[in-house]
Amino acid sequence: MTRRSVVRGTGHYLPERIVANAFFEQSTDTSDEWIRTRTGIERRHFAAEGQTTSDLGLRAAQAALERAGLTADDIDAVIVATSTPDLTFPSVATMIQSGLGMKRGFAYDIQAVCAGFVYALANADAMLRAGLADRLLVIGAETFSRILDFTDRATCVLFGDGAGAVILEAQTGTGDNSDRGILSVDLNSNGDYRDLLYVDGGVATTGTSGHLRMQGNSVFRHAVEKLAATAHHALDLAGLTSDQVDWLVPHQANMRIIEATAKRMGLPMDKVVLTVADHGNTSAASIPLAMSVADAQGRFKPGDILVAEAIGGGLAWGSVVLRW
Ligand code: UT7
Repeated sequence: MTRRSVVRGTGHYLPERIVANAFFEQSTDTSDEWIRTRTGIERRHFAAEGQTTSDLGLRAAQAALERAGLTADDIDAVIVATSTPDLTFPSVATMIQSGLGMKRGFAYDIQAVCAGFVYALANADAMLRAGLADRLLVIGAETFSRILDFTDRATCVLFGDGAGAVILEAQTGTGDNSDRGILSVDLNSNGDYRDLLYVDGGVATTGTSGHLRMQGNSVFRHAVEKLAATAHHALDLAGLTSDQVDWLVPHQANMRIIEATAKRMGLPMDKVVLTVADHGNTSAASIPLAMSVADAQGRFKPGDILVAEAIGGGLAWGSVVLRW
């Protein structure tokens, strides 16, 4: 008998304000056409003034609980992946714990930038398997609009705000890959690449929150090479092959990266969940957002094999293979 982390429910929240590509033509030398053809992004959501990452994450968590028919009393722990916390501390997760009215359990944040949700899923799976919790809320929530330099056309057009939540529940399996739940995890990072994608401020340096800086084309090359490799490795660990994959749920950074990864995995695009056109890159929120949108559309069937993969600042990258 093996403890498995099975998806019990999903939910998401997107701020009301939708920002079309044309918005950026006012402040930088860019065009809707360039953004669409180079990234696949058509629009993104930006949080309202005063609306914080914990506000978005709380709404996503409430949506997931409602869809799963559960209440906050049924949850043992909250893990939030974010790089844009409301405050330096306490964690966004404890703020959401309080917002949900949870009177027990534990909550903490994880920071692995755009790979954050994959890291959070891996962490949640380890917690559940170790018996430290039976039911967990895993949330990706971001307000990247707060760290954008709106005069830098190479970065400001790429990112958006939002939150997605997944409820994982411990269930008993046989230990082979016919089980439902998380079947394998592959995590990687290489801090030598820190200058490719970073924020130029922080508590211990400038004392400010800073702005996002990226050498886009270098990150692009790493992404194309590393995402397919991590997905293949995680599939190997699960004893599965690409042709057994029903759904790729990729980090939604750039349509061209997603297409290149699917091609390297031999997957047709109709097996790929795509939200990049409507959400842009929401960093750690992008995978749970995509998962929740596809789940709400009834696209995943029980028994389907899903692969989630992401790469971001660090560089940090990884994948999770799970059976729905
Ligand atoms: O989520 C974390 C991981 N992040 C990523 O995965 C992002 C990875 N990188 C990318 O998605 C792409 O590299 C970008 C979308 C950021 C850029 O696309 P690219 O095809 O790699 O363009 P580039 O950086 O090589 O730039 C090509 C040209 C440059 O002009 P010159 O030097 O050729 O005259 C840029 O200045 O495009 C220019 N450019 C723009 N032009 C109009 C860059 N940004 C823009 C823009 N509008 N917004």
